[in-house]
Amino acid sequence: MPSYAVAGASRGIGLQFVAELLARGNVVIALARNPENSEGLQSLKDNKTLHIIKADITDLVALKNAAEETAKATGGSLDVLINNGVYQNKAHLYNTLVDFPSTEELISDLTNSFQTNVLGPILTTNAFLPLLRKGTLKKVITLNTGLADVDLTSKCEYPKITSYSISKAALEMVNVKYALALKDEGFSFLNISPGFVNTAQTAPSEEEMKEIMVMLGAFKKAYPDWTPVPVSPAESVCTMLGIIDNLTVEQSGKFVSHKNNREWL
Ligand SMILES: NC(=O)c1ccc[n+]([C@@H]2O[C@H](COP(=O)([O-])OP(=O)(O)OC[C@H]3O[C@@H](n4cnc5c(N)ncnc54)[C@H](OP(=O)(O)O)[C@@H]3O)[C@@H](O)[C@H]2O)c1
Repeated sequence: MPSYAVAGASRGIGLQFVAELLARGNVVIALARNPENSEGLQSLKDNKTLHIIKADITDLVALKNAAEETAKATGGSLDVLINNGVYQNKAHLYNTLVDFPSTEELISDLTNSFQTNVLGPILTTNAFLPLLRKGTLKKVITLNTGLADVDLTSKCEYPKITSYSISKAALEMVNVKYALALKDEGFSFLNISPGFVNTAQTAPSEEEMKEIMVMLGAFKKAYPDWTPVPVSPAESVCTMLGIIDNLTVEQSGKFVSHKNNREWL
């Protein structure tokens, strides 16, 4: 039975990966910073092949402990790591680099974004690397976004969602660096964008809705025929698992969309 660890598994796409991978009969390690608060994880906890471990992906000690707990659960190996956790501060999501309320808030938003979105996957990957080396599949999947694509951003002429896009763009380089560093060890590193997925826990405010409409309008510049309707986490995860299942070492270092190419919507 292959083993999968999902980092950032309390809700949204991460939780859906856990549910779907369990349904397919895998051993699943769900890493969450507050698993006791996750209704979704709690509802799955009686599943015998699920191991829920408390871990913040920015906390080295927690990650070391999580890797030790995982080794106990799997017998010392891990087949696939899915880096899913993400930092997005709603308060500054729609600021451009030149209209943050203060430089302090700009620094804080960028720092937090890099801490979770760039360092988080690096620290998690390194903590689990000894186990992944002993695994049979040796796949490291990291969730990224079309908003990190420089060409798309230029085509859409969209200057907002800054810290998130900038940190995720750095993540593409992280993926390439890992692929190169471990290219002789049979690893496949993949960045994947899940598409436009509805993971909102509450309805957007009127102000947020206005911003979302501006963003969707910008996307239409690049994809005029695209219908802006989000898919469910279940649909997105099934599509991504199809790509992950067929991933080969030759593709290591690639960043693809849910369409397995660079078409983001
Ligand atoms: N939804 C989309 O349309 C979309 C589009 C493009 C890319 N993506 C990417 O897909 C991934 C999942 O997105 P989503 O929409 O499912 O996000 P989400 O609903 O906001 O969930 C984010 C997850 O990350 C976890 N997390 C945040 N900081 C963490 C930390 N320091 N340590 C551990 N876990 C942490 C959260 O846990 P808590 O519950 O503890 O906060 C939560 O489980 C992200 O990487 C995102 O960039 C999503």
